[in-house]
Amino acid sequence: MRIILLGPPGSGKGTQAAKLRERYAIAHISTGDILRENVKANTELGLKAKGFMDSGALVPDDLIVSMMRERLIRPDCAEGFLLDGFPRTVPQAQALDAMLEKMNIRLDAIVLLDVPDDVVVSRLTNRRVCRSCGAIYNAVSQPPKQEGICDKCGGKVIQRDDDKESVIRERLAVYRKQTEPVVDYYRRTSGLLAVVDAVHSSDAVLRYLEAKA
Ligand code: AP5
Repeated sequence: MRIILLGPPGSGKGTQAAKLRERYAIAHISTGDILRENVKANTELGLKAKGFMDSGALVPDDLIVSMMRERLIRPDCAEGFLLDGFPRTVPQAQALDAMLEKMNIRLDAIVLLDVPDDVVVSRLTNRRVCRSCGAIYNAVSQPPKQEGICDKCGGKVIQRDDDKESVIRERLAVYRKQTEPVVDYYRRTSGLLAVVDAVHSSDAVLRYLEAKA
């Protein structure tokens, strides 16, 4: 199973990817998570990416494409993968097409999680994440059992630096300008694109997603 999850920030890509990963035992590749790990570890990539991420801008295509070129050839991708947050620009989508062609593999599904901006802002201002394992919570709809402590690993649950309202609005504007053209690109070129109304509960979204994927 090789799936791309598309959608604006806060549409639930990470939440759904975690559920699909458990169910199908395929690699979950989140470019946002890989970049945040690099920032935390002060790698060269992390140092280059941090300023873009903090302001809500996209990290330049050349950095992302070479990062993904290395990631997709790892053994855990052999049985399938789920791309969360990639591709995010048309040049990234074209680079992915070239990588898949070279590897002689095809995508099975491209799913767009569709949610309006007001839902995004409300979800993201209330989102909390585990600093250690990345588990996703919501202060209102899905809090950890013990405040500030991750249910899964006991790590500290925090708010992401880019989940401030001003940065969320900028990420939404970037999504409309740079990532919506990717949706049109796949609509034109692949015939695989399915749209899921992602305003419903996360279990309902998972059911729609499984039906479409
Ligand atoms: P990234 O980490 O990919 O952020 P994003 O796309 O903005 O997506 P989010 O992680 O914010 O949201 P999500 O859709 O995963 O929602 P979630 O499941 O957490 O990227 C961060 C930055 O890295 C970018 O801004 C950019 O700088 C850089 N970057 C990353 N990839 C790049 C690329 N390819 N090119 C260039 N730069 C790149 O859910 C959100 C909240 O809602 C949670 O609290 C959750 O509990 C709740 N929730 C989820 N689903 C539901 C539901 N159905 N009902 C109620 N609540 C829900």
